[in-house]
Amino acid sequence: MRVVDLIIKKKLGQELTKEEIHFLIDGYVKDEIPDYQISALLMAIAINGLTEQEQFFLTFEMLNSGDQIDLSSVEGIKADKHSTGGVGDKTTLVVAPLVASCGVKMAKMSGRGLGHTGGTLDKLEAIPNFRIALTDKEFLNQVRDISIAVVGQTGEIAPADKKLYALRDVTGTVESIGLIASSIMSKKLASGASHILLDVKVGDGAFMKDLNEARKLADAMVKIGNFAGKKVVAMLTDMDQPLGIAVGNSIEVIEAIETLKGNGPEDFNTLCIELASELLLMTEVSNTKEEAVKLVKEKINNGEALDKLRQMIRYQSGDERVIDDYSLFPSAKSIITIQSDVEGYVEKINTLEIGRAAMLLGAGRSNKDDEIDLAVGVKVFKKVGDKVNLGDVIAEIHANEKNIDVAIETIKAAYKISSQEVRKNQIILDIVS
Ligand code: URA
Repeated sequence: MRVVDLIIKKKLGQELTKEEIHFLIDGYVKDEIPDYQISALLMAIAINGLTEQEQFFLTFEMLNSGDQIDLSSVEGIKADKHSTGGVGDKTTLVVAPLVASCGVKMAKMSGRGLGHTGGTLDKLEAIPNFRIALTDKEFLNQVRDISIAVVGQTGEIAPADKKLYALRDVTGTVESIGLIASSIMSKKLASGASHILLDVKVGDGAFMKDLNEARKLADAMVKIGNFAGKKVVAMLTDMDQPLGIAVGNSIEVIEAIETLKGNGPEDFNTLCIELASELLLMTEVSNTKEEAVKLVKEKINNGEALDKLRQMIRYQSGDERVIDDYSLFPSAKSIITIQSDVEGYVEKINTLEIGRAAMLLGAGRSNKDDEIDLAVGVKVFKKVGDKVNLGDVIAEIHANEKNIDVAIETIKAAYKISSQEVRKNQIILDIVS
């Protein structure tokens, strides 16, 4: 086989075989095929797409290039959830304990944030002494004992994807449904869960800006998962404004704890209940949606879901007192409120810009190796559809020294206030299964 022939084949829109995909990915991982040839191939794929078969084979090639978590020694149903990422997305911190408190095993590997999107691992590190790096043995024991663990990647998951993604990033070939679906699913399948719920974010703060494109991505990922023998459901959810109120690290964990105490912001609370109940339906813990929602609400009201989070923090050496005493979280030197100088209704909040403001304050990374400040962030009190009076506090920043003025200006510019009434955003946009 010659690489150039396969590049030409893909350029002509023809389908690559399993053996050809193996030859390309294996050769690339082993440094036998140079970046420039794979770049050309990726561009041909970005333009002509990948067939379903090609997506399956590419996913398995990338999956098999690295380690896979073996959860077979853990009894019970093992589930996982994955979000394609957004602003203020602290869902795992609520949904994982909720579902675990219903008896489903949640063995979850999470990631760090980059750019305007936050990462669950960074958020967890706002809890003093919390360990995100467990050994495989500790990880499995914890899931066996208390049904939940949220950790950083153990071993090397899908190194082929890592190498390809880095190349896609600098060759304008990230945006391709087939490549994105294979990339995400290669990592999800490595986590060893039998049931996977995908939260595909849609909107200006998400990777997928358009509902139809997001549907195509969801459909592709569900098909790949089913091909691998997994039960996969994708929920398409709103990211046309930040999720909940808090965008940052400490402040998002506090919001997640409040949600488990029954005091969550409306949109975030609704999303968590929907995701958790979908997981209960998928895993057949509940037979109907109504039953699932009732059980989830019960676990919030009776405090069992919050106890599950407390248990997880304790097992991972964190200071569990944070649940009752928020002063133990890193906190910012100043809180500065931003008031509205007009009256009307919030028509739009530029989500990317809110994420960027939080990042400028230090809550996120513009480069992979940047240090982050766990204490800082943004709170958006007024959401799309809300009435705003002159002088109302629309947002506040939690800041240390960095970029205070530019963050305030960025937030002000992100708000668009209309004189007309505006409908609230719907949080669940579609479900693909
Ligand atoms: N996230 C991933 O993991 N892979 C992609 O290709 C895009 C987003």
